[in-house]
Amino acid sequence: MARKTRRIVLAAPAAGLPTRATFRMEEAALAPLGDGAALVRTICCSVDPGVRARLSDGASYAPPLKPGEMIDAFCVGEVIESANPRFAAGDLVALGGGWAEHVVFPGRGYIQKIPHRRLPLSVWIGALGVPGMTAWFGLKRVAALEAGARVLVTSAAGPVGATAGQIAKAMGAARVVGVASGAEKADWLRSAGFDAVVDYRRTDDLGAALAAASDGGYDVLFDNVGNAMIDAALPLMRIGGRIVVSGQVADYNTPAAERPGLRNTAYFIAQRLRMEGLVVFDDLRSFPQAQEELSAMIEAGAVKTREVRYHGLEAAPQAFIDLFTDQSAFGRRIVEIGAEP
Ligand SMILES: NC(=O)c1ccc[n+]([C@@H]2O[C@H](COP(=O)([O-])OP(=O)(O)OC[C@H]3O[C@@H](n4cnc5c(N)ncnc54)[C@H](OP(=O)(O)O)[C@@H]3O)[C@@H](O)[C@H]2O)c1
Repeated sequence: MARKTRRIVLAAPAAGLPTRATFRMEEAALAPLGDGAALVRTICCSVDPGVRARLSDGASYAPPLKPGEMIDAFCVGEVIESANPRFAAGDLVALGGGWAEHVVFPGRGYIQKIPHRRLPLSVWIGALGVPGMTAWFGLKRVAALEAGARVLVTSAAGPVGATAGQIAKAMGAARVVGVASGAEKADWLRSAGFDAVVDYRRTDDLGAALAAASDGGYDVLFDNVGNAMIDAALPLMRIGGRIVVSGQVADYNTPAAERPGLRNTAYFIAQRLRMEGLVVFDDLRSFPQAQEELSAMIEAGAVKTREVRYHGLEAAPQAFIDLFTDQSAFGRRIVEIGAEP
């Protein structure tokens, strides 16, 4: 008899902000294990703003999901059965899976064994997973961050931004400014080493607020938010400045034709600026070394992590919607699905 799992799939493409009706829970047969495959029992999974791009037609490095297809997520899980010589039953892994109680790793794609249990397992889909690796390679490879740099990080209290700001400090940045909404986020970011925090919701002149916080401009902008934020920061970039395009969380729910554009491109000439995006999986081979270094920073308390926990697979859609609507809680949103061994 075919084995089954409960999973959450796309019910109907989203227009604007996704709602609960965008998603549907179902029971589905698991694919048989071909060569190289592994069956994984999910312990916890993530909700990721970039997945919004797959819920309707739009530019993304992955094609849009069709109704009935499982929603992507990063999962921590336990291998239950393996047809892959690299994994054995009982191994703990982090992998690209989905909102499901069991997932089949098909033999190709993102999976790695969790090398130690000195940190909570969920960290492997947070600061040591894709969000942390995006921060790491965005700063190290794309921005080529140098000691003494002045860095601006947007959506700074999110898992990517918070890790980026703290890594920048640890790499010797002279000043790190974060953009985030609300006093609680600002307090936490200062406790994590940010030098200043700008609340974009409480200013009607974002450019002036970013200038006041900057102490002479920025060498690196690590942007998670989108064009309006980049445009506000462009006049503040110092000569040779680098803009890392990590994500566009403010624009994902807006139709392409209505998204803000960039007006301040003249600064690219005058200030010799460079703007570059990244897809973190391009750096996959270098994850283990980066994770070892970052893990040591987290264990030493030099990089702080923060989570919001949701219980049960059925909580995943609300956790996802909260990414765009809930300002009251912050940190990596983790959906607990199965028991830890
Ligand atoms: N390039 C890659 O390979 C890669 C990989 C992973 C993630 N990413 C991207 O990295 C970015 C950050 O990801 P994350 O997981 O850490 O999520 P996140 O930053 O925590 O995203 C949610 C946060 O975004 C902010 N936000 C929501 N709507 C906004 C709006 N309209 N304007 C400004 N800010 C808004 C809110 O915080 P505040 O209100 O406090 O700002 C919210 O808490 C995302 O855009 C994601 O797609 C890229």
